[in-house]
Amino acid sequence: MAIVSSGSPAGPARPAAPRDKPRLLDPSPSPEADTPLQREDSLRPRRLADYIGQSELKQVLGIAVEAACSRAEALDHVLLYGPPGLGKTTMALVLAEELGVRCRITSAPALERPRDIVGLLVNLQPRELLFIDEIHRLTRVAEEILYPAMEDFRLDLTVGKGTTARTRSLPLAPFTLVGATTRAGSLSSPLRDRFGLIQRLEFYGLDDLQAIVQRAAALLQIDLDAAAALEVARRCRGTPRIANRLLRRVRDVAAVGGHGRVGAELVNEALSLHRVDGRGLDASDRRLLHLLHHSYGGGPVGLDTLAAGLGEDPATLEAVVEPFLLQQGLLQRTPRGRVITEAGVQHLRDHAA
Ligand code: ADE
Repeated sequence: MAIVSSGSPAGPARPAAPRDKPRLLDPSPSPEADTPLQREDSLRPRRLADYIGQSELKQVLGIAVEAACSRAEALDHVLLYGPPGLGKTTMALVLAEELGVRCRITSAPALERPRDIVGLLVNLQPRELLFIDEIHRLTRVAEEILYPAMEDFRLDLTVGKGTTARTRSLPLAPFTLVGATTRAGSLSSPLRDRFGLIQRLEFYGLDDLQAIVQRAAALLQIDLDAAAALEVARRCRGTPRIANRLLRRVRDVAAVGGHGRVGAELVNEALSLHRVDGRGLDASDRRLLHLLHHSYGGGPVGLDTLAAGLGEDPATLEAVVEPFLLQQGLLQRTPRGRVITEAGVQHLRDHAA
């Protein structure tokens, strides 16, 4: 089904933190594509049966799709939440494909003016999907327009001002809102309560990641053996978007070196070149652990001090660098600051530069 992108994904409400250079292991969409959607498009699964992993999510949504189809109704509104890069947009497109309808794609920062969201809603055809990324960033006004739209497929418009102001209601086609967020806790409860299905996407396990890498390699016509796919899987932080990005870098090294079949050794060589270690940590991650261990005796150290020592923006450090280190148990957040764990110290010993 056709994808329609609306507006720019970047909005003025919360500007992205400054970055020196893009990180290979950043789970955000790549800026190098014409649009991130386009670059990821060729590797996206189109149907539920091709979507690897997230078995509970697939089961729940599969049943909901089948039931909606059998009743010839719009699918209930769906909220997908979880870390970036795990396939929320992909799942929205898969749902549209399964329902045989179009998916309109936008993100909350592109819906700054009331007419942005109104324009999208009035143009929806029956049972179509409206995908709103970063839905926790909707303005209050946009949220209030959405409430009757989601609940009763109705648009309440205020006409006139002051004492002559009146509300007029317009019927909308029954549609499905698919909202995506990395921060479910930041969603207002009236908005959250209007979703019939609320599903979390989990980090992927190694087996699923290996299968995702093998599938992507086949689509990119890379002759990659199973051990090589596993090496990519180990380094991608549980995130398919990163796996596919690493795979493209491996493909570059293989092409330049004139290699036909790609084995585990070549993956190691290619990803070492990008300073990605066997556990998926890059130079920024190791620099953080190193600074904490060697300059601050393991901590606790405040975020701002750490950021200043690394020459990084504190928000970037907190949102991009730290989560994986925390998830891996290499770093801990305590009320008094960041502390390196024993596993973090061991990782530094194993990967002394
Ligand atoms: N590519 C990215 N994510 C995927 C997934 N979950 N299944 C199959 N291919 C993918």
